[in-house]
Parts: sequence; structure tokens; C-alpha cells
Amino acid sequence: MSVRIAPSVLTADWGHLAAIVAVCQSGGADWIHLDVMDGQFVPNLTFGTKVIETIRGLTSVPLDVHMMVVQPEKYFEEFAEAGANRMTIHVEAAPHLHRQIMRIRQLGCAAGAAVNPGTPVESVGDVAADLDTLLVMSVDPGFGGQEFIAHSVDKIRRARLLLDRTASQAALEVDGGIGRDTIAACWRAGADTFVAGNAIFGASDPGAEIGALRECCRVIT
Ligand code: DX5
Ligand code: ZN
Repeated sequence: MSVRIAPSVLTADWGHLAAIVAVCQSGGADWIHLDVMDGQFVPNLTFGTKVIETIRGLTSVPLDVHMMVVQPEKYFEEFAEAGANRMTIHVEAAPHLHRQIMRIRQLGCAAGAAVNPGTPVESVGDVAADLDTLLVMSVDPGFGGQEFIAHSVDKIRRARLLLDRTASQAALEVDGGIGRDTIAACWRAGADTFVAGNAIFGASDPGAEIGALRECCRVIT
């Protein structure tokens, strides 16, 4: 299993968007994580199609769009057209999760399901084999820079067991409060993909921090 690092540009300096994207690419980011929030599913508003399209024009790094929105299916076509490679929706906002996953795939994107800290990972059990990504939230979504919820490690372990049991090839992604102090425990528990916002863009050398986070996992035997 290889480590994937997905910088979240949410709390980066948006006045220098092109430079941020360039740093992600030169630092070896595996995916760029884009947090779309609608002010309804979460108490924060961010961006939509236009920004995805703009970032698509700046890089060839896969764009991992995390949709913290109600009725995510309203945006599937336009996000796919804008250049999203992966779309992950929240099970809490997806009464027809299987249909929505299939639709994302039909559009040529990798499909993911995310679970909030209060939602059991078993809630995706019946679609686990159809997922390209299972995203375990390790903070309550809405804002960058929050503290990692410690019991997420146990949830990651259960998520890994679920993916193995269902022979799912899905990436197991963790998002929220990931940094040098928390990433290794998540990797050991079975996560393979790590979103990091503050840890990367709060660092003096964001590009180097991508490698440093990766290295934190490598030293674990
Ligand atoms: C939170 C977002 C995260 C956030 C992560 O709702 O989904 O992707 O940007 O930021 P950090 O790494 O600062 O917790
Ligand atoms: Zn996110």
C-alpha cells in the first residue's frame, strides 16, 4: 500500500492560487483536495464549478472534490465537466447513495462516500465494493485547522476491515487535523490517503511538508 498525500487548499492564501497549486504539484501531491461547502450541509461557504475549472487549468494533478453539500447530485455533471477527477459525497446527504455513486462513475470520475465523526462506517457497508474512495472524517466538517478527533483511529481500523471484508479496492482517505503528530497512527490503522490543509499551508515550506508527511508513514514498520 502506498501513501497518498492530498493537500487541501481551503486555508491556503487564495491571493496566490496559481502559486499554491504549483507548490502542490512540485511537492509531489498525489491529489489536490477541493472542499466544496454550501452553507447548508456545513456552516461554511466555499466555492464551486468556476474554481474547480480554474484549478484544472493550472495542473494535471488529480482533483479530489469533497462535496459537503446537500443534494450533491445537482453538481455532478458540471463538476465533471469542470475537470474533477474524483467526487466524494457525504452519506448523511445521500439517501440514494448507490444511485449517486453509479452516476459519478458514469461521468468518468472516481466515486467516494464520506462519513462524519458521528456516522458509523458500517453505513456504507452495502456499497463498499462499489466505492473508489471511503473518506473517514476525523473532524466535524466545515473548517480547516480543527483538532483531530482521537477515536477516529479506531474508526479507520474498522473501515479497513470493512474494505477488506468486501474486497473493496477503495482508497481509505482521512480528512481533518492530519499532521506530523497524527498521520502515522492513521496509516498504521489502515488509511492510505491523507488530506492535510493547515499542516501543509501553515508550514514554512509547504512543498517540503508534503514529503515530510509522507515520510512520517514510511518510518513505521
Ligand atoms: C474540513 C475539510 C478539510 C479541511 C482539512 O471540513 O473537509 O479538508 O480543509 O483541513 P485541516 O487539515 O487543516 O484539518
Ligand atoms: Zn475535505
